[in-house]
Amino acid sequence: MKKVMRVLIKKGRIIDPSQNIDFVGDLLIEDGKIVGIERNIEIKEKIKIIYADKMWVLPGLVDIHVHLREPGEEWKEDIETGTKSALYGGILRLACMPNTKPPNDSPEVTLYIMERAAQKAYVTIYPIACITKNQEGKIITEFGRLKEAGVKGVSDDGKWVQNSNVMKRALFYAKNFDLAVISHCEDSTLSKGGQVNEGFFSAKLGLKGIPTSAETIGVIRDLILAKETKKSIHLAHLSTKEVIPFLKWAKEEKIPFTAETCPHYFTLTEECVENYNTLAKVNPPLRTQQDVIAIKEALKEGLIEVISSDHAPHSPLEKEIEFELASPGMIGLQTLLPLSLNLIKEGYLNPLKLAEYLILNPSKVLGVIPPSFKREAPAEVIIVDPEEEYILSEDMIKSKSKNTPFLNQKLKGKIKMVIIKTKIFDLSN
Ligand code: DOR
Repeated sequence: MKKVMRVLIKKGRIIDPSQNIDFVGDLLIEDGKIVGIERNIEIKEKIKIIYADKMWVLPGLVDIHVHLREPGEEWKEDIETGTKSALYGGILRLACMPNTKPPNDSPEVTLYIMERAAQKAYVTIYPIACITKNQEGKIITEFGRLKEAGVKGVSDDGKWVQNSNVMKRALFYAKNFDLAVISHCEDSTLSKGGQVNEGFFSAKLGLKGIPTSAETIGVIRDLILAKETKKSIHLAHLSTKEVIPFLKWAKEEKIPFTAETCPHYFTLTEECVENYNTLAKVNPPLRTQQDVIAIKEALKEGLIEVISSDHAPHSPLEKEIEFELASPGMIGLQTLLPLSLNLIKEGYLNPLKLAEYLILNPSKVLGVIPPSFKREAPAEVIIVDPEEEYILSEDMIKSKSKNTPFLNQKLKGKIKMVIIKTKIFDLSN
């Protein structure tokens, strides 16, 4: 007779945004599937029991914005190391951005990524393809063939599609294939050559600034095109308070859109670039304290409903150099949850809402069934100690690159255990 593999998680705080539930109880997994979710489950036979008192038990996080760097820049990251870092961050599914080398603008590159993922990935990968060939903003890629190859969305992330007519056609085209369109809203005629937020610090440091208008103009144009084409647009990594009134307007007008931000935009300010700290160089740039507060308010109001990491690994070769030559971006897979938990402590979100922003909403944008604790759902479970404090040391980071301003800083909230189907990963140490 076949042996049944059963795991019972006991007395954890079970939070599942797909069912709007948040209660202390038990979760039973059988042969890699959720089979029971109750206040109390008693099993007579001897099975594996995980005691989760004071822990949170959540479906795996879904990170819609990750740079895995494979193919082409494997000295920064690859599919194996990037997804291992994701696992340690409680992210069990991620969308990988197409600005690889070569860029993911053809089914061949998509299939290569899928094949490598099948061999090496710890978690599920959803490839995102380019909107335009070589991200040049001119010729639209073959969305139909890319979809067939396995992509869930398109984006020229790292660049905005500057030509409005190309973007409009891309939205119509993506609508036919039911692909998510993810926009990096940054008008390059305003941001080109920019290093940091335009304002006091750019003047003080003598660096070219990136004005907030670069993002605001990007957002407004994209919202207007979403309205005209009736195709939803996903606005990536929003950073500035200036865009908020336009998001409000778009909601009132019932324009189809979703908006995302990342922990660094609600945690850090432009002051971090003092002393030319390249670890704080990122696109869009870190902004002011007023922007940080406005982004948190927008999360609270539900104008921004997705939180992603924008994990952007770079090696010391690209970071330990002059500020103007350094590559923008910071890693974020293992800091996504701990930094987002601060939103609860500060009263902006409750745990269920945060779980919605980290699990349910990104899944909806990608058009995939979200990880959940519904009966018969595949087990994708994370167990989190929301109170555990620790210093983020280099050896804890599973990514090849260590470029984060949070390195050696105190974080709160730790992923203790991950269950993916029949595999159990104990991450306590
Ligand atoms: O800072 C960034 N780094 N922003 C982006 O949009 C791209 C990313 C990267 O690929 O390094």
